[in-house]
Amino acid sequence: MKLVTIAGTRPQLVKVAAVSRELRKTFNEILVNTGQHYDYNMAGIFFEQLDIPKPDYDLGVGSMSHGKQTGNMLIKIEEAIEKEIPDGVIVYGDTNSTIAGALVASKLHIPVFHIEAGLRSYNKKMPEEINRIMTDHISNLLFAPTSSAVENLEKENILRHVHQVGDVMYDAVLYNMEIAEQHHSIEQYDLKPNHFILGTIHRAENTDDRERMRGIIKGLINLNDKVFLPLHPRTRKKLEEYELMTELVSAENVILSEPVSYLEMLLLEKHAKAIVTDSGGVQKEAYFAKVPCYTVRDETEWVETVEAGWNQLVNPSQQDLSHLINNFNSVNYRGDLYGDGNASKKITKEIQNYLREML
Ligand code: UD1
Ligand code: UDP
Repeated sequence: MKLVTIAGTRPQLVKVAAVSRELRKTFNEILVNTGQHYDYNMAGIFFEQLDIPKPDYDLGVGSMSHGKQTGNMLIKIEEAIEKEIPDGVIVYGDTNSTIAGALVASKLHIPVFHIEAGLRSYNKKMPEEINRIMTDHISNLLFAPTSSAVENLEKENILRHVHQVGDVMYDAVLYNMEIAEQHHSIEQYDLKPNHFILGTIHRAENTDDRERMRGIIKGLINLNDKVFLPLHPRTRKKLEEYELMTELVSAENVILSEPVSYLEMLLLEKHAKAIVTDSGGVQKEAYFAKVPCYTVRDETEWVETVEAGWNQLVNPSQQDLSHLINNFNSVNYRGDLYGDGNASKKITKEIQNYLREML
C-alpha cells in the first residue's frame, strides 16, 4: 500500500524521521517536501542528521505570504498526489504545509491521516490554530498525542477514528538522545551543564509585535545567567527590522547562534538550567529532559506540561524571569503524559487497520 507524506518545516522533519522509520517497514512511503523551510540549518541538516529518506518530490515552495505560500503548495501537492494516487496522505501538526496537504487529499477523496491532531490554543489569531482546526475537520484518521487533545476533538464533535497514540516527538527524543551524546557536546559553545538558559523564539504572535519582542529581549538580557539563543531566521529578520540586534549583540550574557542541529539542540535542552521558548516542540522536549520551561505566550496547546508544574506561561515585560527561574520548585514528574515512546508504531498499525477495513 502506498502513502504520501507531506512535510516541509523543521519540526515536521523531526516527526517524519521518527514515523518514517516505522512506516516504511509496512508501507511504500512517498515523501513530498514542500520546502516551506529551505535554509540548510532549517531543513538540509535535519535530512542528513536524522537519516530522513530523500524526498521523492521537492516542491521548493519557500517563503511568501500565507495565501501565496499555501496556494503554491496546493497546486504542486495536487500534481504530486494525482501522479501517485496513494491510499492515504499523512500530514503533521499545524503549518501551512499541513493544511495544504490535507486540503488537496480530501478534495481528491484520498484519506487524510493527521499526526498531532486535537491540539488547540483557542486563539484564532494564530495561523496554526486555523490550520489545525481545518485539518482535523477534514481528516479521516486522527492521531492525538494526549488525552486533552482527544477531549478537544470531542468538544468539536470529532469522535470517530481518533486514536490517542502519544507524541512522536517523544519517540524522536528516545531514539536520538544517545546518538546526540556520542557525537556532540555543549562545550563547543563554551557552556557548562546547568549554568545557562536556552532560549528560542519564533512565533508570529511574538516576532510580529515590536513591543513584545522588545520585552522578551530585555527579559533575556536581564537574566543573571548566560543565555544561549539560536535564532530562527524569522526572528533574526524581525530583530534587525526593529533595530534590536545591536542591543542583543552587545549583551554580555547572551550567546547568539544560528539555528542548531536537532542533536545539538537535544543536548542543549538536557543541560540547560531552564528553557525560555515559544516553540511547541521545545516545550515538550523541555519536559522530556526534566528542565523547567518558561513559555513566552498567553496560552499553550501543551497544557499537561503546565498542569504538571514544569512549564509556566510568562510575559517578560511584566514578570521578573530571573526570579521565576531561581525560585523553581521541582515537582513530581509523570513520565507517561506523552505516551510510551511507541507512537510511531501505533500510528503505523492504525493506518494499516484503517486501510484494510476500507479496501
Ligand atoms: C512555521 C509555522 C509554525 C512553526 C514553524 C516551525 C506556519 C504558518 N507556521 O513558522 O507553525 O512553528 O514553522 O519553525 O506554517 N525563513 C528563512 N529560511 C527558512 C525558513 C524561513 O529565512 O528556511 C524566514 C523567511 O523570512 C520567512 C520566515 O522565516 O518569511 C517565516 O517562515 P515561515 O515558514 O513562513 O513561518 P515560520 O515562522 O517558520
Ligand atoms: N530545534 C532545532 N534547532 C534549533 C531550534 C529548534 O533542532 O535551533 C528543534 C527542536 O529541538 C524541536 C523542533 O526544532 O525538535 C521545534 O521546532 P520549532 O521550534 O521551529 O517549531 P514548533 O515546534 O514551535 O512548531
